[in-house]
This record gives sequence, structure tokens and C-alpha cells, in this order.
Amino acid sequence: MEMIDLRSDTVTRPSKAMRQAIANAEVGDDVFGEDPSVNRLQEAMATMLGKEAGLFVTSGTMGNQLAVRAQTHHGEEIVVEEHAHVFNAEAGALGALAGVQARLLHGQRGTITRDQIAQVVRPKNVHYGRTALIAVENTHNRANGAIFPIDVLADIRAFALERGIRVHMDGARLFNACVASGRPAREYARHVDTVSICLSKGLGAPVGSVLVGDREMIERAAYYRKMYGGGMRQAGILAAAGLYALEHNIDRLADDHANARRLAEGLAASPAVDLNVEEIQTNIVYFGLRRGLSAPDVITRLREHSVLMLATGPRTIRAVTHLDVSRAQIDRAVDVCQSVLARENQAG
Ligand SMILES: Cc1ncc(COP(=O)(O)O)c(C=O)c1O
Repeated sequence: MEMIDLRSDTVTRPSKAMRQAIANAEVGDDVFGEDPSVNRLQEAMATMLGKEAGLFVTSGTMGNQLAVRAQTHHGEEIVVEEHAHVFNAEAGALGALAGVQARLLHGQRGTITRDQIAQVVRPKNVHYGRTALIAVENTHNRANGAIFPIDVLADIRAFALERGIRVHMDGARLFNACVASGRPAREYARHVDTVSICLSKGLGAPVGSVLVGDREMIERAAYYRKMYGGGMRQAGILAAAGLYALEHNIDRLADDHANARRLAEGLAASPAVDLNVEEIQTNIVYFGLRRGLSAPDVITRLREHSVLMLATGPRTIRAVTHLDVSRAQIDRAVDVCQSVLARENQAG
């Protein structure tokens, strides 16, 4: 039986048409700045986000970490929500590569506010590392793909400007936020200095992210990209997939959001599931298990029925919708989940 892979939106494979775009890509040596496809992608993303320049990088992690490295100095502090990817899931790079300390804030569904930030910004004093950067995540992975509200972002930005602090947005899934909220990417981007956007998640490209910002910052990021081993040569074959994705795979994210809703509604119908369907704004569904059910056990049972999800804790599971999962497959996944949960429930 065909697998229905809901572990992540990173599992998508390039379509035939995308592979054709890859095959036809014009390429050059990107370390010399001579790859026309990479240059086109960087310009396209910068224009969409209303920024001066873009930098094609290997991954979302590299985009975030270059943004941090290029906008901070060793010993400084970055203010970030406690479940943010940049702090939790990037192999300790804030400390290891940028040499900064994280000041963690408890967010409401991933959103942190100006008032919360104001309370932890360091005053000028020899005892303190300067607060150099605020990082927000939009959409917020760990918060069920929640959209970061633009008005809250605007408040944060106004405060940051007053205090000489820069703002980075981990926009790995920014286009999910745009499609779900109906707000163009540049409306979010105007309230931050830098944004990192992933091409290899919901947009369906095989590899890569783009970091955008002002020209000077992007030049600094390019220097650190080389230092981190991320200078690629004929990267145009990857950038061509990104260009294809920007043209063809943004609007269709609405289908993934509808599928996530449908999945959440189906799951929430089970008494063994703890899930607030109203929280599902985009393509990520985390749900809790009640009645002592074990997430690893449920995952194993689901796999036996060709449905893949991710256990993210002893009683928490994540499912993510994407362009390689159809509505019919979502309906089948719901049926499988309901029967597995009913059986596990009886066994427990
Ligand atoms: C919110 C967020 N930011 C950054 C990343 C990192 O992306 P990559 O896996 O390409 O390094 C991820 C990956 O899942 C993510 O969910």
C-alpha cells in the first residue's frame, strides 16, 4: 500500500515539471556570483519580500544561523520564544557558531510581545551581554503552525528600532502564513531586518532556503556562508527548483491548510485525542493522546497501516500536510488513525 507520509513537509519530492526546470537550468559558479539561476532566485525572493538582497543557502538552519551570526557579536544576547526552532532544533548553533546567549520567553501560541521583550532587554551595564537581536518564527512550527500577528510584529519592530536591536524572522513557512492570512510576504517582512524562507518545505523544492535583508547584511552573511562551508558552485540546478516553486507552489498551500483542518477535525472526533481544531491555521497539526496512550506505540501501529506521523513526545504526535498528500489520502489517514486509536484504547 502507498505510504501517506505526514511526518513533515520536508519529505516532498520534486515533481516532473520541477525536474524539467532543474534539467534546463542555466548555471555558473555561484561562489564567483556567476550563477544566473541563483542570482534570479535571490532577486525574486528579495523583491517579493521588499528587501535589497537575497542569499541562497543550503537550509533553513543555515539561513537562521547566518542571520544571527551576521547581526550579533560574541557574548551578546538574542531574545527568542522558548520553543523556537532557532534555539531548540539547530544543534546548539547559537552558542557554537554565533557565540550568543538566548534569552527565552514563554509565547502564547508562538507569539511573543513587545512588553515581554522589553522586560528582558539588558540595560547598558558592564555585567550584561548586549541585547542584539530578537527572533520570531512565522509560522511557528511547535505552536501548530500558528501565524505571527502582524500588529504584534509591528509593535516589536517599533520597540526594536528605539533600542537599536535588530529583528530576524524565521520564515521557514512564511508563505503558509501569507496564504492563510491573505497578507503579502512584504507586509510581514517590512517589520523585520532579515527573513529566512525555506524552499524545501511546503514549496516542494528539494533543497535550499533564501535569506533576505539589506545589502550590507547579506554581504556579511555571504562571508559567513563561505566560512560555514555553504559556498556552492553550480547551485543553479537547485535554484531552478526554487524558482519553479515560487511560481507554481505558493497559492496551492491553501490545499494543504484545508487538508490539515480536515485531518484535525477527523482526529479530534476520537475521544483519545486532545486537540483544539480552532488552533489549526496552516499545515501543522500537533495532538496529544489521552488515557495513557503512548505516542511511539501509536506511531508504530500507524506505520503498519502505511501512515507515517512523528512522535514528538511520550504522548504527543505531529502530522504535517504538504503537496505530496491528497485529500483522499487525508481521509484514509483519518480512518486509519481512528481505528488504531480505538484499538490502542481498548488494549490500554
Ligand atoms: C520553523 C523552522 N525553521 C527552520 C527550520 C530548519 O530548516 P532545515 O531543516 O532546512 O535546516 C525548520 C525545519 O523544520 C523549521 O520548522
